[in-house]
Amino acid sequence: MLKPKAIDCPSICYRPIKPSDREVLEQIHGNLFPIRYESEFFHNVVNGREIVSWAAVDRNRPDGRSDELIGFVTARIVLAKDSEICDLLQHNSSSTDQTLVYILTLGVVEAYRNLGIASSLVRKVVKYASGMPTCRAVYLHVISYNSTAINFYTKMSFKCLQRLPSFYFINGRRYDSYLFVYYVNGGRSPCSLLEIVSFMVSYIRDGIKCVSSRLRKNEKRKVSKWPKCKESHSLISMAPSKGNVAVDSSGYECV
Ligand SMILES: CC(C)(COP(=O)(O)OP(=O)(O)OC[C@H]1O[C@@H](n2cnc3c(N)ncnc32)[C@H](O)[C@@H]1OP(=O)(O)O)[C@@H](O)C(=O)NCCC(=O)NCCS
Repeated sequence: MLKPKAIDCPSICYRPIKPSDREVLEQIHGNLFPIRYESEFFHNVVNGREIVSWAAVDRNRPDGRSDELIGFVTARIVLAKDSEICDLLQHNSSSTDQTLVYILTLGVVEAYRNLGIASSLVRKVVKYASGMPTCRAVYLHVISYNSTAINFYTKMSFKCLQRLPSFYFINGRRYDSYLFVYYVNGGRSPCSLLEIVSFMVSYIRDGIKCVSSRLRKNEKRKVSKWPKCKESHSLISMAPSKGNVAVDSSGYECV
């Protein structure tokens, strides 16, 4: 296998996947993933049937394979209401046409890793999703032991929303998966119970601060009515006291 140092000045280009890519595409999938994909999957990818895809090729590849895949991403558009992450989105029930883009597979052959190729491929998916007004997010699953992919998606600012127990069943064993999401076009996750509770607590705390600062203000006004002229100097000198600072800062917080 070609080792990373054998890659001299690669010139990476991105293009759609086409029927002539099928053999290499199947081969790379077989090498990179523990799951066996059906023939129909590859047929749909190379013919662009319900699947969008991008390929990376090295135009400077020394062995004359300048149009051969060295990386790819495949994705599918799904209706948000039909997706398993519907309840993890702030879903507008009146809008039934909201969509999501689900990344099916992403891979870069070993010799071309850590050159930013997967980042470019995922950015293409995000750009594509952002260009669809109905699309709210790009999402995917990563098997729980794939720390490279977990690091990769975290670095790409995807949000890990859930760990799904026994999501994959491979060679008689069950594996958990992580669900990663990247929101686009104003999509976002609904507030969790914790977020709602913490919002209410901070709202109540700010309210109490606001009321108590007003009460303190009123008390000061009452006090200042007494020795108005006589103690004016002391009132001025009291201005930067703790009490006044507290009133100002809590007043600010209330706004
Ligand atoms: C995951 C994978 C697609 C990354 O491809 P890549 O082209 O090497 O990724 P990039 O060069 O764009 O890496 C971008 C960032 O991802 C992270 N990353 C990539 N490979 C990593 C590794 N081996 N360990 C830790 N972090 C890694 C880094 O943070 C990196 O940023 P940096 O270069 O600034 O440090 C590639 O390793 C791969 O094909 N793996 C096998 C298939 C797979 O697991 N696919 C994902 C699940 S569908």
